[in-house]
Amino acid sequence: MEVPNNKNAIESNRQAWNDSARHHEDSPDWQALLNEVAQADFSCLDETLHGLLEQVGVEGKELIQLGCNNGRESLSLFALGARSVVGVDQSQAFLEQARELNRRSAYNAEFIEADIHHLPASLHHRFDVALITIGVLNWMPDIGEFFRHVASTLKPGGKLVIYETHPFLEMVDPDAADPYRLATSYFRAEPFVQEEPIVYVGKVEQQVAKSYWFVHNLGAIFSGAISAGLNIAHFREYAHSNREELYDQYLNQEAQMPMCFTLVASKG
Ligand SMILES: C[S@@+](CC[C@H](N)C(=O)[O-])C[C@H]1O[C@@H](n2cnc3c(N)ncnc32)[C@H](O)[C@@H]1O
Repeated sequence: MEVPNNKNAIESNRQAWNDSARHHEDSPDWQALLNEVAQADFSCLDETLHGLLEQVGVEGKELIQLGCNNGRESLSLFALGARSVVGVDQSQAFLEQARELNRRSAYNAEFIEADIHHLPASLHHRFDVALITIGVLNWMPDIGEFFRHVASTLKPGGKLVIYETHPFLEMVDPDAADPYRLATSYFRAEPFVQEEPIVYVGKVEQQVAKSYWFVHNLGAIFSGAISAGLNIAHFREYAHSNREELYDQYLNQEAQMPMCFTLVASKG
């Protein structure tokens, strides 16, 4: 397989996400979101992330979400008492949706278009909490490099909060005839390449820019965070899923796989 260099993979991912935005706008979820976001207590965060953020404490704090997509999670942080919220994403098309939600919201977040690997200096050393959620880590070709950029946004003592899908899930293929057969190595080095639009439900037959999904095992994630000067204070694995519905078939098994994890690390 021909894998582009990191810069080209990031650029191709940007184009693929920009194309994906219109497919998301076609969904009933988007129409519902347009109405729901206007409520002062709007939150799309699930119990796990809500609970974790309450534990970390975001009231009166300055927050940044990296890979914020359409901003629905960034805007949810106000219901937890965040003083200010900045959402960063490299997809201009999704940020247009974020700004649309922001206009309808009772609050005012700031949305900035940037590749996480090239953050403007105005975002450096500024935040109490940096948030990374579902489906962001795997777009990053170099996880160590990624953590260095994320850490650069935090004040000393600031906290990184991650709620992500579990790398163990990369070993199985939910579309396979036997979805329980281990299909790929936990230590897989080359990315998964997708040539169809990025959608959360089903498939859309259409040629778009390739998207590159990189597998980072837990060791690589911990090492990346530690090398970036972050002290891991919390790590927990869960049996529930925060992935596409297709993965729900792995729920409630006697031999249960880990489905997602939370991690909190503070900047020394
Ligand atoms: C799966 S979405 C996040 C969805 C979000 N957790 C939610 O539930 O609403 C991943 C986002 O990461 C963004 N992204 C990927 N690579 C990026 C990069 N290098 N810099 C900034 N954003 C990036 C994509 O544009 C996309 O919007």
